[in-house]
Amino acid sequence: MEKITVNIPGSVSEIFVGREWETAGKLIPQSGVLIITDQNVHSIYGNRFPEFPVLIVQPGEQSKKLEVIGQLAERLLDAGIDRSGFLLGIGGGVVCDITGFLASVYMRGIRFGYVSTTLLSQVDASTGGKNGVNLGDSKNILGCFRQPEFVICDPVMLYTLSDEEYFSGLAELIKTGIIGDRLLFEKIEQNYNAIIGRDPELLSSLVSMAVNFKAAVVTEDERESGLRRILNFGHTFGHAIELSSSLAHGYAVASGMELAARFSCNKGLISVTDLERITGMLKSFNLLRDYHIPGDQVGRLILHDKKKAGGDIYFVLTEGIGKAVVEKMPAGTIVDFYLKYKAGK
Ligand code: GLY
Repeated sequence: MEKITVNIPGSVSEIFVGREWETAGKLIPQSGVLIITDQNVHSIYGNRFPEFPVLIVQPGEQSKKLEVIGQLAERLLDAGIDRSGFLLGIGGGVVCDITGFLASVYMRGIRFGYVSTTLLSQVDASTGGKNGVNLGDSKNILGCFRQPEFVICDPVMLYTLSDEEYFSGLAELIKTGIIGDRLLFEKIEQNYNAIIGRDPELLSSLVSMAVNFKAAVVTEDERESGLRRILNFGHTFGHAIELSSSLAHGYAVASGMELAARFSCNKGLISVTDLERITGMLKSFNLLRDYHIPGDQVGRLILHDKKKAGGDIYFVLTEGIGKAVVEKMPAGTIVDFYLKYKAGK
């Protein structure tokens, strides 16, 4: 078991990788706790939850909206949760976002922590303190920064994920390797069979590497005013693909990473060999699926992305496996690259 700390002035967030999730009961108060989870997680693990009232949301992105936050807040009030209350989110990225957002606004902020049940949330969504809900198709447009007190990442929980959910998370793990940890990338390359087999020991060590990297980035730049932007590698195109196709987040990001790597190669930042290693890895895990962004919609969908600054976008490129660089560029430059790439395919 490894404990990784995100140390930000005024808050410390402890992420336990490889810890049994049932030990969450030892990290929460004896009373005033409410658990938030989704239907899928509850049907598998609900009978082993700590003995506190449970609020169940529908699985999926459609639950990440103000209406659901309002309904849950009413349930908290009914349950008598006051400012000393504690919310425990047990679930993936959606449950973590809902729990963190609700805990941040309910009575101007109560304590919260997570048991992170998906690979996507273990390597990305549960660490970092961004809590957001969607407004229409604008993702995470209402949100705040507030760190969970703790996150438990138990690799055993990854066995019960569907293939789609598991491999969607793998894309974010690969992203971390490309932007910041060459050894992580190589470990994924060298352990194909163990990854397919969801080997818990290997997964613990891969999740640890990804969380260590993200924790260091977030500790340095919690509010995303500089360094933290590198975590968006693959996400500018990824979000446009997610909005225009029905691909799960990780698959959309995988194609977004392929595009960002090609763009980096076109700019002479990475070699063809590195480009082929990146695309080869994405293909080997079958992460590159068909998608279609209508040509006349690319600019609108990219600018929809909230990482824009006016008509400019902080686009994340790679300078070689394990290294990322952010370039502020006009959205038109990115659209041109995309249209030329698609025309040449
Ligand atoms: N909660 C996700 C993040 O902060 O990046």
